[in-house]
Order: sequence, then C-alpha cells, then structure tokens
Amino acid sequence: MSVNLDKSEGEGRAQESLEITLRPIELSDVDDFMVWAADDKVTRFCPWDTYTSKEQALNYIKNCAIPHPWLRVICIENCAIGAISVTPGSGFDRCRGELGYVLSYNYWGKGIVTRAIQMVASTIFKEWPYLERLQAIVATDNNGSQRVLEKAGFQLEGLLRKYTVIKGKTKDVVMFSLLSTDHFLV
Ligand SMILES: CC(C)(COP(=O)(O)OP(=O)(O)OC[C@H]1O[C@@H](n2cnc3c(N)ncnc32)[C@H](O)[C@@H]1OP(=O)(O)O)[C@@H](O)C(=O)NCCC(=O)NCCS
Repeated sequence: MSVNLDKSEGEGRAQESLEITLRPIELSDVDDFMVWAADDKVTRFCPWDTYTSKEQALNYIKNCAIPHPWLRVICIENCAIGAISVTPGSGFDRCRGELGYVLSYNYWGKGIVTRAIQMVASTIFKEWPYLERLQAIVATDNNGSQRVLEKAGFQLEGLLRKYTVIKGKTKDVVMFSLLSTDHFLV
C-alpha cells in the first residue's frame, strides 16, 4: 500500500510514493521503537509512560510485543516507524478487538496510520472469523487520533466520562467502532 511522503531533502521537495508494510516486531527493531516510545510528543495520549531506556524497550518487545496476539510494526522499506495492534477480548467479549496505534513524530500527517488501520481492517476479520467488532477508545482531546478513525470508516459511538487515567489525569474518552458488516475502504 502506498502513500505520498514528503521527503524534503536539499532544496527540492519530492513527493515520493513509498510502500507501507506491516510485519511482526523483532528485537532488532529496538532502536526504531525508541524513536517513538521515548518521545513525549508521541506518548502524550498513550496510557503507558515514555520509555527511558533501551533495556526497558527490549523487555517490552520480548515479553509483551512479540507474544502479543496481533501486533505489527508499521514499516517503510522494512524500517519500523510505528506500531498497530488489535487486542482480542476473551470469553463473552471474544466478538470484539481493541485497536491501538502509534507513529514516530517525523511521519505524522502523511496519511500513514489511516492507511495502516485500513490494512488491518481489511485482514483482521478474515484472520479471526469470530471477530465482529473492532473498537478504539480515544481521549477527547486527541483530535488527530479521532480524525484518523473517521477517515478509516469507524463510527463515533459516544462519550465515556472519566473512563481512564492517562499520565496521572482521569480522562473522558470517545468510543469508535467498525463492524465486520460495515462497509469500509480497502
Ligand atoms: C494520532 C496519530 C496516530 C495519527 O497518525 P497519522 O499518520 O499522522 O494520521 P494521518 O496522517 O493518517 O491523519 C491525521 C488526520 O488528523 C488530522 N489531525 C492531526 N492532528 C490534529 C489535531 N490536533 N486536531 C485536528 N486534526 C488533527 C490531520 O489533519 C489528518 O486529517 P486530514 O487528512 O483530514 O487533514 C499520530 O499522530 C500518533 O501516533 N499520535 C501519538 C500516539 C497516539 O495518539 N495514538 C493513539 C492513541 S488513541
């Protein structure tokens, strides 16, 4: 899948069409992982704290990200620039999965996560036939993330007041969903 990336090098600003791919994370991605995970601008709306060491990142990749049921790194030319995951519900909640995503700051605003979400939506319902609903929970002040979900065809369902704590503050969030029966762009 291609998006236009503005690779501004030297005088000219070339619009290059580069392919985005999704693949499982590897321990060797740790330096690229730190680019987004150690950046306060990126982690501002994430429930987890900004990473402060490579060792911490290696532990997370080894013990959580690699064993995760569905976590992929978003890549350009096989280089990880972000991550996207679907965490499945269990038991009576197995009909739904929760979407999460994060992207290195230098790549914001180029349509990359919108595209990555569309790629996930076009495959996850086939990979997991019991999945009927993909949902995402976004802080009310995370406007970029809400816009991405709208662009990817998710429906805004409503406001959940004082739903979660992010960086020590209790936040109102909004719930978005996409059903396996919804029409969405691929
Ligand atoms: C939110 C995030 C995933 C968006 O990824 P992205 O690849 O930059 O998103 P896209 O380029 O596909 O689309 C961004 C859209 O949001 C809009 N947008 C970005 N910031 C915005 C803001 N502060 N207010 C309103 N709209 C905003 C952009 O204009 C664009 O919409 P448009 O195409 O209609 O102009 C990325 O910024 C990120 O990783 N943020 C930090 C982590 C995070 O918040 N994760 C989600 C937790 S719920």
